[in-house]
Amino acid sequence: MNTDDIVRTFLDFYRERGHESITGSTLLPPPSDPVLFTTSGMHPLTPYLQGRPHPQGRRLVNLQRCLRTTDLDDIGDLTHLTVFEMLGSWSLGDYDHPQSLRWGYELLRDGFGIPREKLYVTVFGGDEQVGPDLESLHTWRELGLPVESTGDENWWSNGPVGPCGPDSEIFYWTGDGPPEGSPTTDSRWVEIWNHVHMRLERGEDGGLVPLRQVNVDTGMGLERLVSVLQGGRSVYETDLFEPWMRILPTLWVLDDHSMRVVVDHLRSSMVVIGDGVRPSNTGRGYVLRRLIRRLLTSLWRDDPSRTVSDLPVELVGRTLDHFRQSLEVDTVREVLLDEERRFSHLLERGRRVLSRPEFRGPLSEEDYLYLHDTHGLPREWVAGLLR
Ligand code: ALA
Repeated sequence: MNTDDIVRTFLDFYRERGHESITGSTLLPPPSDPVLFTTSGMHPLTPYLQGRPHPQGRRLVNLQRCLRTTDLDDIGDLTHLTVFEMLGSWSLGDYDHPQSLRWGYELLRDGFGIPREKLYVTVFGGDEQVGPDLESLHTWRELGLPVESTGDENWWSNGPVGPCGPDSEIFYWTGDGPPEGSPTTDSRWVEIWNHVHMRLERGEDGGLVPLRQVNVDTGMGLERLVSVLQGGRSVYETDLFEPWMRILPTLWVLDDHSMRVVVDHLRSSMVVIGDGVRPSNTGRGYVLRRLIRRLLTSLWRDDPSRTVSDLPVELVGRTLDHFRQSLEVDTVREVLLDEERRFSHLLERGRRVLSRPEFRGPLSEEDYLYLHDTHGLPREWVAGLLR
């Protein structure tokens, strides 16, 4: 199955069960929202999970692009991406959580052809505020899947306050031999889908109250699903990343980790630019600036003459098309190049600062902070230069 087949299979499965497809789009939440970027498929639905009637009904399905920078240091591994797409389904006060689990298993088994032996599920084992999720435990047992109870790993919330609830996480076995251990004991079990029983709301004081309606919120990272279904070792070995992994190694010779950082950050920067953000020193613009500067730091580590102006137009165009963005390819390239020029000047000044006598010898934590806060020099770059 290629990515398009996978998306279609998911959306069709839920449409056949009465779900309306809502157009997932921009990474930018509405102006009243406190977060900078959409981080999960449920995010644009918060008011509807809290009880406002949704114009398209109580059963929804979606593919939503998301941006997460909380795991920035994990980027470069085989499974994390900053920009990713999330397949999601929702019951807004309609069918119950066990129904969602049963449909979920049916789709994985019949729609995606995943054998039962490759799946494992975790459920919420309870804490001092909320009891164990026995309903899900029983449902999974009835379905014949191995299930494990954990603590707060099976609690989902979008932030410190707001809708939340216990969840069931479905894991897929990615090891070579037959499955071993369980999701908490063997990291070759990779999480692919989360079904949240979103029925509570956390207030400012940390207390929990029932939501006006009992919801189900599910989310499945598309790139990770594609990667396990296509049998690749990583998200980068899928048809989604095919043009990237074919074209970039012909431009730049980088170690695997740096290549993945460059690919991830370049792709994410293009999408963020495509949604209208421009580099700056605050807010969303600062997130974009960091992404671009981090990728340039990796790119320039052993050859500062490399430049994003070498990026083929095809790659930018295909990325914008994939994310259904209408910006001109040249505009995206201009924004990237402009930021590259600025960063290059900054580093030139940085080299002069670092040649001062007080920066000879090992640098202290205070030096790094000063160089960052006063001169804008990233720590990785300074450390790389001194090596
Ligand atoms: N909102 C849940 C998640 O992002 C489904 O994992």
